[in-house]
Amino acid sequence: MVNTDIKDWIAAPDLLTDRIILITGAGSGIGRATATAFARHGATVILLGRTVRKLESVYDEIEDAGGPQAAIYPLDLCGATPQDYENLAVTIRKEFGRLDGLLHNAALLGALAPLTHFDTELWFQSIQVNLTAPFLLTRACLELLVQSGDASIVFTSDETGRQGRAYWGAYGIAKAGVECMMQILADETETNTRIRVNSIDPGPVRSALRTLAYPGENPGKLPLPDAVVPVYLYLMGPDSRGVTGQQFDARAFPG
Ligand SMILES: NC(=O)c1ccc[n+]([C@@H]2O[C@H](COP(=O)([O-])OP(=O)(O)OC[C@H]3O[C@@H](n4cnc5c(N)ncnc54)[C@H](OP(=O)(O)O)[C@@H]3O)[C@@H](O)[C@H]2O)c1
Repeated sequence: MVNTDIKDWIAAPDLLTDRIILITGAGSGIGRATATAFARHGATVILLGRTVRKLESVYDEIEDAGGPQAAIYPLDLCGATPQDYENLAVTIRKEFGRLDGLLHNAALLGALAPLTHFDTELWFQSIQVNLTAPFLLTRACLELLVQSGDASIVFTSDETGRQGRAYWGAYGIAKAGVECMMQILADETETNTRIRVNSIDPGPVRSALRTLAYPGENPGKLPLPDAVVPVYLYLMGPDSRGVTGQQFDARAFPG
């Protein structure tokens, strides 16, 4: 959680200059907000997602704002094979030679249902997108992250992955797995690499996923995705060097 010396933290305009950052689910919601913010602060962003039209729109927004030229990498995390992730890593190595940041953000809500009635196919899809994909992507990209002098891996979590709650099924269980993966990876990388690994619970944010989870809620009362961007900037930039294995709550972060 946030400690006192970052309570007044603000992002320097050139915070992410020359950094190469890959963002999954970059076409909408928090993924879009973080990708455009990273680019505003100087990063070259690799936009990974399922819907090309949405990724192109983010690409255009970055270009119109005069940011570093982004890259688009369409990939459906539900059907992607281990080889697809290796191919992605080969492409990044060829184009950029290294990776300075990896933001796991894409998610599939699936269904809210009691475990006894949970649809098996939806279980597999949800675990695939929310848990297996971050594992396979991290594994494929690890050597690229080692090539960076100051790399950051961020997992987007959810409060339902920190405290189990009825009906959150495969999504909640996958997010709990993500928290554990973050801790294992942080422990494994702490001594021999310059990679830091942390997770963020963004809290309630206006998005398509949120509307699916809470259809009766008035989205107009929720913060926009831009509101949670500061903690993502902090963890991607050099000011968080040495911070690893921690769970962040975007609501407790300045911004
Ligand atoms: N919003 C909240 O209140 C809230 C609260 C806690 C945690 N979170 C977490 O925040 C993160 C971002 O979610 P969001 O709220 O910004 O929702 P969102 O706008 O619906 O974004 C989810 C993203 O994931 C992508 N995605 C889904 N399935 C995919 C697949 N098979 N392959 C590739 N990409 C896929 C979507 O792409 P398409 O649009 O192309 O399908 C979309 O860009 C998620 O990890 C979520 O669990 C959100």
